[in-house]
Amino acid sequence: MTTLITPADIARLVALHGLPALLQRLAAAIEADFRRWPEFDKVPRVASHSRLGVIELMPVADAEHYSFKYVNGHPGNGAVGLPTVMAFGVLADVATGTPLLLSELTLTTALRTAATSLMAARVLARPGSRSMALIGNGAQAEFQALAFHHGLGIRELRLFDTDPAATAKLVRNLQGVPGLALTVCASTAEAVRGADIVTTLTADKRNAVIIEPGMLEPGMHLNAVGGDCPGKTELHPGVLEAARVFVEYEPQTRIEGDLQQMPADFAVTELWRVLTGQAPGRQRADEITVFDSVGFALEDFSALRLVQQLASEAGLGQPLALIPALADPKDLFAQLRPKLPSLRAA
Ligand SMILES: NC(=O)c1ccc[n+]([C@@H]2O[C@H](COP(=O)([O-])OP(=O)(O)OC[C@H]3O[C@@H](n4cnc5c(N)ncnc54)[C@H](O)[C@@H]3O)[C@@H](O)[C@H]2O)c1
Repeated sequence: MTTLITPADIARLVALHGLPALLQRLAAAIEADFRRWPEFDKVPRVASHSRLGVIELMPVADAEHYSFKYVNGHPGNGAVGLPTVMAFGVLADVATGTPLLLSELTLTTALRTAATSLMAARVLARPGSRSMALIGNGAQAEFQALAFHHGLGIRELRLFDTDPAATAKLVRNLQGVPGLALTVCASTAEAVRGADIVTTLTADKRNAVIIEPGMLEPGMHLNAVGGDCPGKTELHPGVLEAARVFVEYEPQTRIEGDLQQMPADFAVTELWRVLTGQAPGRQRADEITVFDSVGFALEDFSALRLVQQLASEAGLGQPLALIPALADPKDLFAQLRPKLPSLRAA
């Protein structure tokens, strides 16, 4: 039997473990898998572009497990009452190909993206970072805010969104978190001024310029999450030129990240090399670092495996008869027999 995991199951897991602890476990699981990077079969995700958005498939495997995620990105979806990003995915057994888990991944994507940003910031942000600008206050925003508050010690969030209702929603959801001050700003420039970390989480189907070189300050770390598709960027090319740039999986980020604007030989460092000590992370207090995040299949693989483990421990998830149970594996036709009593007669 395949196990079905719904958004309600993920919400139960968050309630059971607490969001800070779950984000920590997720960041640890992702980091453990990034550290064994060479063991994975990797490809850039397969994207199907349309006028209003994109639908992507994200496969990855090691010797034991295979996973894929289906995810869309439709920045105009809010107008029809749907989220910009929706996702689900499968974890399968490599030895037999059996699908073990069919899981929601919309909530899980927000959790794993925040956990990945946290993992990157731990090696790239200036130690002692306390303030973060959060540009784009939509569906992903609370997850990033709380990951950086609990996991990195961020105490002040400086918020800006072109939609004031999104910022008001974020303030409602985060108000009362002990030790977290919220400052609503009138522009990106105002939010970014003086911030140790800048997180961009905007959604727009164009080459937007959210962060310009003139906004940079020595020692800033940019966690650039929203530029994740061809023709959809957030950083001015001059920002990348002024920084050391870190990526998940270079072949995919060259196509999809803010990096798409740069020449093919523009130097970047894959995060797994920093995490395994093969390349330096931040080297100086005054250097500017950029995590050009696009979201890589391995983060969903790690998340699916952790969800499988935690759901099994908590007795969550429903058995799902997705694959026919056959007494004789060569007699697939037996599945139809009860429904076709008159087959022979016909
Ligand atoms: N890198 C990753 O792993 C990853 C994972 C998930 C989502 N994403 C991307 O992150 C982005 C945010 O996702 P979401 O689910 O929160 O989307 P969302 O639509 O819920 O929120 C996006 C917000 O950005 C705001 N915005 C748009 N243009 C802006 C601008 N110029 N200045 C300030 N705010 C602006 C919108 O008003 C909206 O509130 C999307 O682009 C999505 O594709 C990346």
